[in-house]
Amino acid sequence: MKTIADINQLCACVKQARQAGQRVALVPTMGNLHKGHLALIERAKQAADFIVASIFVNPLQFGPNEDLDSYPRTLADDQQKLVQAGCNVLFTPTEQLMYPKGMQAQTLVRVPEVSEGLCGGSRPGHFDGVATIVNKLFNMVQPDCAVFGEKDFQQLAVIRKMVQDLNLPIEIIGAPIVRDADGLALSSRNGYLSAEQRCVAPQLQLCLQDTVAHIQAGRRDYAVLMQEASSKLQAQGFVTDYIELRQATDLQPATPASKQLVILAAAVLGETRLIDNILFDLL
Ligand code: PAJ
Repeated sequence: MKTIADINQLCACVKQARQAGQRVALVPTMGNLHKGHLALIERAKQAADFIVASIFVNPLQFGPNEDLDSYPRTLADDQQKLVQAGCNVLFTPTEQLMYPKGMQAQTLVRVPEVSEGLCGGSRPGHFDGVATIVNKLFNMVQPDCAVFGEKDFQQLAVIRKMVQDLNLPIEIIGAPIVRDADGLALSSRNGYLSAEQRCVAPQLQLCLQDTVAHIQAGRRDYAVLMQEASSKLQAQGFVTDYIELRQATDLQPATPASKQLVILAAAVLGETRLIDNILFDLL
């Protein structure tokens, strides 16, 4: 695997693969890789022959009081994992390459509606930062397809909408959430949890599962159900940011007539913000 920080080298490498008739996949990440990220590489290998992963902790998507400085940076470990996973190129651009004039003098890509509410509500500007950097990565790598995790369900929806609205010739592939044995969705931020908080953290997923079970058993008083779920989380020591039921296809609020649903939640444990979701079809 080649690690490349230079745009010309990256282009030359991808061009060579494409001239050899290979299909190119991109897997964008912020590093500190875990099995959830590596599952994206596996998924990419099913869809393409030449896999480019990127690691860039994107300051544009972090709010002023968020964890940009403390975000775990573990390049040597990440490289090893990517080699084992069969990645061909690791692109590690610098902030200077991505934002040569700083972030203020920067064109933004904003995807309305789908970026609003949920994580977009509590992290203003976050999805503008995500859409902008992913668009830049798409333009630099020019992949045939790109793989994103369903763990960040709203992010995936934002990227799908951006690709559609801007007519980007890139297939977007969603990959299922990878979890620890106790159900906690893997996340680079799980490393912030104390041992005690780590024991409580799987309750987020259990609470979502429990709520889905109520819905499948026939409850349609969605607003009341969400309120109950939120109270349960609070009782377990979380500060609930949101817990909402949406239509899976467009993230619009669910109505009793909606069939394909996703329940999404964000909750804070200590200093750590955890997100999770369950995608399901109404029985
Ligand atoms: P990051 O949080 O590093 O995640 C990179 C990719 O891994 C995303 O597509 C995310 O959904 C996926 N992922 C993370 N945990 C996962 C899990 N447990 N199961 C399945 N997939 C998982 O998301 C970002 O970085 C950034 O916003 C990025 C898209 C790179 C733009 O900066």
